[in-house]
Amino acid sequence: MFAQVRHQLCPDLAIDLGTHQTRVAVGGRGLILDEPSVVAVDSESRRILGGGAAVGRVAKQMIGRTPDGITAAYPIRGSVVHDFDLCEAMLGSFLRKTGRSKLGLKPRVLMTVPGAISPVERRAVTNAAERAGAGDVFLIEQSRAAAVGAGLPISEPIANWICQIGAGTTDIAVLSLGDIVVRRARRVAGEAFDEAIAAYLRREYSLKVGSRTAERIKHEIGSADPLDEELVVEVSGIDTAGAVPRKAVITSEDVREAIAPVLQIMTEELRATVESCDPELAADLADVGLVLSGGGAQLRRLPEYFERQLGVPVRLVDDPARVVIRGTALCVDHFRQWRPYFESAA
Ligand SMILES: Nc1ncnc2c1ncn2[C@@H]1O[C@H](COP(=O)(O)OP(=O)(O)OP(=O)(O)O)[C@@H](O)[C@H]1O
Ligand SMILES: [Mg+2]
Repeated sequence: MFAQVRHQLCPDLAIDLGTHQTRVAVGGRGLILDEPSVVAVDSESRRILGGGAAVGRVAKQMIGRTPDGITAAYPIRGSVVHDFDLCEAMLGSFLRKTGRSKLGLKPRVLMTVPGAISPVERRAVTNAAERAGAGDVFLIEQSRAAAVGAGLPISEPIANWICQIGAGTTDIAVLSLGDIVVRRARRVAGEAFDEAIAAYLRREYSLKVGSRTAERIKHEIGSADPLDEELVVEVSGIDTAGAVPRKAVITSEDVREAIAPVLQIMTEELRATVESCDPELAADLADVGLVLSGGGAQLRRLPEYFERQLGVPVRLVDDPARVVIRGTALCVDHFRQWRPYFESAA
């Protein structure tokens, strides 16, 4: 009875703290916040601008418009806390937006973490959430949340194979009978594509571009496999020899060549998951195939590429960037059922 009243006054929260984007869902209500994981700080004092309000979308707008003296700070890198104080401030701001809890109650929170996380990193994310206003903090692996969000039958005695590609981390898992049977996590994901594109342009075109330009190129013309009609984009950068602004026309073939090594790493990780499975499960994988999720999995022709590399069916889930928060929210809605799979930092 008390728990029910408490729950109504202060519902549980699901938080997917991502390298690029943070998403928050309220138990029973679904997604209520989806904002960039960025804060705008004064370049000298490192204080958050706007008296602490320059967080998320507001911060992104400020950074684009008034660059003088303002630095974009990203508290999360590789899906783990990189700057503790800024992370706490960012989470605090997001939690306040979800509505102040009544009677000083603190919400119970379920947060996502990548598979390859150290105890120190686990503690950092838990502490940041607690200091930002969370009550009890539980953690869930991104790959499990993605599998739940994708609606995979993970409790059944068959293999479910998921590859969740965010900005900072690729989490691969095989789940069966509720357990993660094999897991692999690499800090090689969407941002690694951007870095590979920037490095390629420097090398092949003597053109220096920033990470945002590299990401835009990926969105506009990036693909993992050949396209029916190849694409081109004009790119502005700085000539590395003369240090003067210059433009170049880049093709989708260029981008494919640039990102090939990153795709190769992902393929090797996927192959390694199969090798770690016992033969029965490995045979299942060939039948059920691979499910792709995460914002980074939206690269054109990625399913076709992995199908060719692995020889199994590959499918991209709907609304891939929000699958993890959807799954985390479902776990919060059925807290007691999923509780055995949650972890805490201690
Ligand atoms: N259409 C697209 N094509 C290719 N990549 C895309 C596309 N749209 C978004 N992305 C990439 O998806 C990534 C962001 O995905 P997502 O929001 O899942 O990451 P995140 O949750 O912030 O990161 P992580 O979970 O790794 O910490 C970025 O690298 C972005 O460039
Ligand atoms: Mg994510």
